[in-house]
Amino acid sequence: MIRLFRATNFRCLEYAELELGPRFNLITGANASGKTSLLEALAYLGRGKSFRGASTANLTRHGQDEFVLFGEVERGVGKLAVGVRNSRDGLEARVGGATAAGAAALVEALPLQVIDPEVHNLIAGGPELRRRYLDWVAFHVEHDHLMIWRRFRRALKQRNAALRSKSSEAAIRSWNAEFVDLAMQLDGSRRAVLALTEHSLLEHGHALLQTELAFEYQPGWSRDKSLEAALDEGLERDLQMGATQAGPQRADLRVISDERQARKLVSRGQQKLLASAMILAATETAQAALERPLLLLLDDPAAELDADSVSRLMAAVAALGCQVVATSLDPAALVFPESPVMFHVEQGVIRSTGGVVSRAENKSEKTP
Ligand SMILES: Nc1ncnc2c1ncn2[C@@H]1O[C@H](COP(=O)(O)OP(=O)(O)OP(=O)(O)O)[C@@H](O)[C@H]1O
Ligand SMILES: [Mg+2]
Repeated sequence: MIRLFRATNFRCLEYAELELGPRFNLITGANASGKTSLLEALAYLGRGKSFRGASTANLTRHGQDEFVLFGEVERGVGKLAVGVRNSRDGLEARVGGATAAGAAALVEALPLQVIDPEVHNLIAGGPELRRRYLDWVAFHVEHDHLMIWRRFRRALKQRNAALRSKSSEAAIRSWNAEFVDLAMQLDGSRRAVLALTEHSLLEHGHALLQTELAFEYQPGWSRDKSLEAALDEGLERDLQMGATQAGPQRADLRVISDERQARKLVSRGQQKLLASAMILAATETAQAALERPLLLLLDDPAAELDADSVSRLMAAVAALGCQVVATSLDPAALVFPESPVMFHVEQGVIRSTGGVVSRAENKSEKTP
C-alpha cells in the first residue's frame, strides 16, 4: 500500500502531494479536473506504463520536459521509496534507493489493479488482455513465472524468425523442443493460477452478477493433441503465416455466464461487472500470496452501473481489505463502510481534508 505520493508535471497535474489513507480514499472533482490523471499517475508508479494505453510521451505536462513520480510504500513494517522520472533521456525507475532495471521492480514494489470505464474490455476484447490478466496473478504468486515467460517469448521469437526466413523444415523443427518445454511450463503456471483464483472468481462473479459463471482455460492449441503434434501438423500453415500458430501465445480464458460465452452475450454493464469480479479475484489471490494489502484503483466505478450494482461492487471491494483510491464526479455515489480520506481536484490542483500540501494550490491562493 502507498501512504505518501507525489506527482510533478504529470498530465494536468503541476504538483500534487497526497497522504493517502490505508483503506479508503475518494477523489472528487468535475469533468476534466484531473481525477483520472491522478489515478493514472499512481498506476504509472506501480507499472511503469499507463493503464489507458497512453504513450509515455503524452503524459508529461504540456510545455514541460519531464514528469516525476514518487511514493512511499508500506510493506509490513518497513517503508520502501519508489520513484519514476521520465525525461528526454527516457524512463528512469528507482526502488529502495537503487536503479531498477525494468518495470518488473515497480510491479513488485507496488502491486495494483485498476477498474476503470474500459475494464469491460477484459470480457469484450481480444484474448491478450485475458492472458495478461492470468500472467499478472502468476507474476505475484509463482516465483519463476516472469523468467519462464521471458524465455518463452525468446523461444517464440526465434522460431518465428526461422519461419520467416524460410529456413529448412529441419532447422525449424530444431527449435521445437525448447519451445515446447517452455510452453508447457507457461501453460502449467497459468493453469495453476486459474485453479488458485477460481473459487474467488466464482464467488465475486456470483456476488456481482447473481448468475453462475464458469471459467475455461484454452491453452492455445487443440486439447486432444500434444503441442508437439500440433506444431508438426501446423508447420505448413506456420510457414505461410510466418508465425507459430499453436502455443500459449494463443491461449485464452473463456468466461461463461449461464452456459454461454459471456463475450458475445452479456450487456455492457454486465461486462463491466464480470470484468470487475475478475479484477477483485486477482487482487484477492495476489494479496493472499503476498500477505499484504494491495492497491486497488477505481476510476469512476459508478459509470454504466445501476445503483444496486454500484452498491454490490463497493461492498465486494470493501470486503477485500485492500487499499482503495476511487474517483467520482459525485461524492455521494459511492458508499464506503468507513469515512474515506477525501481529496477534491479542481483544474489539476488537489485540495484535501486529509493533510495535503499542493504547491500549485498555495500559488493559486496568492493570485486573486
Ligand atoms: N500532457 C498533458 N498536459 C496537460 N494537460 C493534460 C495532459 N494530458 C491531459 N491533460 C488534460 O488534463 C485534464 C484532466 O483530464 P482527466 O482525464 O484527469 O480528467 P477527469 O477529472 O478524470 O475528467 P472526467 O470526469 O471527464 O473523467 C483534461 O482537460 C486533459 O485535456
Ligand atoms: Mg476521468
